[in-house]
Amino acid sequence: MEEVVATRYVTPLREGGSLPGIVEADDLGTYVMKFTGAGQGRKTLVAEVVCGQLARRLGLRVPELVTIQLDPVIGLSEPDQEVQELLKASGGLNLGMDYLPGSLGFDPLAYEVDPVEAGRIVWFDALINNVDRSWRNPNMLVWHGDVWLIDHGATMIWHHNWRGAEASAAKPYDASDHVLAPFGPDVEAAAAELAPRVTRELLREVAADVPDEWLVDEPGFETTDALRDAYVDALLPRAATIHERITLGPRSERKPSQAPGWLTDHLAPWPHPTKKDSTT
Ligand SMILES: Nc1ncnc2c1ncn2[C@@H]1O[C@H](COP(=O)(O)OP(=O)(O)OP(=O)(O)O)[C@@H](O)[C@H]1O
Ligand SMILES: [Mg+2]
Repeated sequence: MEEVVATRYVTPLREGGSLPGIVEADDLGTYVMKFTGAGQGRKTLVAEVVCGQLARRLGLRVPELVTIQLDPVIGLSEPDQEVQELLKASGGLNLGMDYLPGSLGFDPLAYEVDPVEAGRIVWFDALINNVDRSWRNPNMLVWHGDVWLIDHGATMIWHHNWRGAEASAAKPYDASDHVLAPFGPDVEAAAAELAPRVTRELLREVAADVPDEWLVDEPGFETTDALRDAYVDALLPRAATIHERITLGPRSERKPSQAPGWLTDHLAPWPHPTKKDSTT
């Protein structure tokens, strides 16, 4: 992962629970920045790196991730006290995700995902135990006609209690609330395609991307590399068999979008034409 330096804090993203912000950096990039000083803690950032980089290696669309060096001085002129305190508490390395300008939040009533792509995403979320891709909070963006995955902070529950990690990582995945459950996700095909690619080597490369300073002083681990190995050891066996333990629930209607009724009531009933059909 590249490391950049934040040069300007642009604005907070109020939709995010952790108060991520948009920043400009010295490589002229614009990033969504997640702060080490946020209440959710640095494990959220570790999860973003491990899962985000893993997804990218598997060919799923996730905006590029970088680490961002922050000098809290750039927040001194911030009028919002909450933002100023967040910046003050976050000196050092933070996480950046390439900002997708003009992207829209995914709406299951307005966008069709084919079963193959839905299967890949649901299978991946099962692997990382993502509890944050529901129809209430899809954490997917549509940009230039494609779906992009964001926000992998609430995953890998086992890293909150390493002593029970093996048992916890063996548990099933309930996808009945997943935003893509109604699209008939083909998780068998996804497992056949993706599981063999989740090797120890690949997981090691992904874990190596996590900065040491987010890993130090974890109780029970002598070194940061020992902790990196724990991430590998939890994900590797899960990749091989998790598709057998995904609950999708009965194929249901797509859940209501958050758009108001006056906007959606007059839309054509399902199924909408797929992306390919609708390019006339
Ligand atoms: N790369 C990006 N490009 C454009 N917009 C983004 C990007 N990443 C996040 N956003 C916007 O910021 C919002 C919050 O981001 P994100 O979900 O990652 O933050 P969060 O604090 O973890 O949120 P929560 O936990 O409340 O879901 C997203 O819903 C989206 O609107
Ligand atoms: Mg989110």
